[in-house]
Amino acid sequence: MKLIRVENYEEMSSKAAELVEQQILGNDHSVLGLATGSTPLGLYENLIQGVKERGISYRNIHTVNLDEYRGLAGTHPNSYRYFMNKKLFGHIDIDLENTHIPDGKAKSVEAECERYEALIHEIGPPDLQILGMGMNGHIGFNEPGTKEESVTHCVSLDPSTRNSNARFFSDRDEVPTHAITMGIESILKSKQILVLVSGKNKAQAVKRLLAGRVSEEFPASFLWKHNRVTLIVDKEAYSLV
Ligand code: GLP
Repeated sequence: MKLIRVENYEEMSSKAAELVEQQILGNDHSVLGLATGSTPLGLYENLIQGVKERGISYRNIHTVNLDEYRGLAGTHPNSYRYFMNKKLFGHIDIDLENTHIPDGKAKSVEAECERYEALIHEIGPPDLQILGMGMNGHIGFNEPGTKEESVTHCVSLDPSTRNSNARFFSDRDEVPTHAITMGIESILKSKQILVLVSGKNKAQAVKRLLAGRVSEEFPASFLWKHNRVTLIVDKEAYSLV
């Protein structure tokens, strides 16, 4: 795991954007794996700037997102589809047809998981996958206890994850109880992985990740099994290491 230590959130975001743009400049048909949550917001702002100021184009880029809440339609303001359209896709020259996110409203969740996993393989595993990390070490929505061999599946969200994501909802009870997420195996198929972690509330998780002990109890630790992972971490998140 390559470690890049930066001062703060802003520096993490611009460094991450630099790496994403390098990928696009090297191959303008790249497949990007994208994440939601508050962590990648600064990265997305930088990427939007890159289109306006550095002439970066997403015309031939395909994207696959990690996860989606079960039960929320793409038009719901708390769905990850809505988030991606608002925070990134609506501001860059990407063809929305080339952007993929699990369908939270699919009638059969099993069929949707199968469809999504097949799609990841069809358009190719991401050349570069962006990841945030939950306080309990979750990646995507792979909560502690997820098997390394997991592919896209439906999960019951950990109470701690529902609590920490409640900030985006008007009421904690509105936070969905389930989500569809790429599995650990699906994520590890990516050619390269970029993990972004910022802030004091992630310091314990960063300490645990960097201890290097691979365990189902801390899903991000499976990243040690991949040979091209870069972790960009800011001062606060690194403060307990
Ligand atoms: C969310 C997402 C993850 C994200 C993580 C951290 O629940 N499903 O993909 O990385 O939790 O979120 P944040 O970046 O807001 O701390």
